[in-house]
Amino acid sequence: MKRNPIIPFATIAVLGIVLMIVLGAFGMNEVQKKQAENDEPKKEQKSNMASQPPEKIYSNNCASCHGNNLQGAMGPKLKGNDLSKDAIQTQIKEGGGGMPPGVIKGEAAQKVAEWLTKQ
Ligand code: HEC
Repeated sequence: MKRNPIIPFATIAVLGIVLMIVLGAFGMNEVQKKQAENDEPKKEQKSNMASQPPEKIYSNNCASCHGNNLQGAMGPKLKGNDLSKDAIQTQIKEGGGGMPPGVIKGEAAQKVAEWLTKQ
């Protein structure tokens, strides 16, 4: 029986393709792992935010619109207003009237709202 000359070639081609797929999948895994690692510090930053003093959270996230000393700028002044903690938290959560919603969240938002009622 004559050997078919296509078979060795086809075998190598198939092996090559399989190898590419395997290496490709491995490569994706590595990329995903890297991304997962990169996500970690972000989460940490978020929980760190709530452990910062409210003044700092405010100056990092709100002062650009409400002024370094709560005196107001593009946003209204926040000093000396008699907003309740709830009203402030709602404003932080929902934004509106030019203020973006959810600038800060959770514990950080609570802390800043509480602090703002005393300003
Ligand atoms: C991009 C600009 C911008 C940022 C950032 C911003 N605000 Fe505002 N904020 C505004 C504007 C504009 C208004 C006025 C909304 C309106 O008139 O309804 C406002 C309204 C408010 C009010 C209601 C004031 C009132 O007298 O009714 C509170 C409280 C407030 N912001 C708190 C915050 C806090 C706390 C942060 C940071 C977490 C923050 N804002 C970040 C623009 C901003």
